[in-house]
Amino acid sequence: MVTAATPASIRIRPIEPGDRDALIAFYESLSAESLALRFHGASIGIVDRVAVFFCGPDHEHREGLVAVLEESGARDALAPTIVGHLSLEPSGAHEVEVAVAVADAWQRHGIGRRLLLAALAWAEHHGIERLRASMLWTNVAILSLLRSIGRVVTLSMPGAGEIDATIDLPSVLRPAA
Ligand SMILES: CC(C)(COP(=O)(O)OP(=O)(O)OC[C@H]1O[C@@H](n2cnc3c(N)ncnc32)[C@H](O)[C@@H]1OP(=O)(O)O)[C@@H](O)C(=O)NCCC(=O)NCCS
Repeated sequence: MVTAATPASIRIRPIEPGDRDALIAFYESLSAESLALRFHGASIGIVDRVAVFFCGPDHEHREGLVAVLEESGARDALAPTIVGHLSLEPSGAHEVEVAVAVADAWQRHGIGRRLLLAALAWAEHHGIERLRASMLWTNVAILSLLRSIGRVVTLSMPGAGEIDATIDLPSVLRPAA
């Protein structure tokens, strides 16, 4: 089991097809509560088909980012240990849906923010106008994470028990139409 006490550094990088098994293991390792918050209901993790999908973004319209544990002297490039995953899926013209999870032992260590800042950088670079995140209304952690990066977060309630949060991105970097 990976614990936050393990001497290590964390690297944020784009997800790759070879991350499939590590991604399945990451979601298997999440607590029932974290899984329920991530998938908005009871979940046992992700099946192989979903892992393949998450690990195969085209990096232009869809993206995925992972936080990978790198222990000095023990790095095995073939078997990364994933401690965080963020997905960016198109959800409208120039809009992407963000979903994120961090390993329970590593929560509140700034990994979610590092993943989100990397996601913002990717989105701005690719001309995305808006990030959207859907969450259970009880999810204080994701709301705190979204609010921690100094952007304006707009909230709406599309249905009972759910909140949609959006972050509009500056148009300054967007290619001219
Ligand atoms: C939401 C989640 C990804 C946050 O990741 P994290 O790595 O723990 O977040 P960070 O350590 O980067 O914290 C970012 C900010 O949020 C705050 N925060 C994080 N968890 C919090 C919590 N449970 N309660 C209150 N604030 C919290 C931190 O204090 C920090 O703010 P600060 O710098 O002003 O102190 C993580 O809690 C998680 O994986 N939860 C389960 C899955 C989930 O809910 N996913 C979201 C659905 S899309």
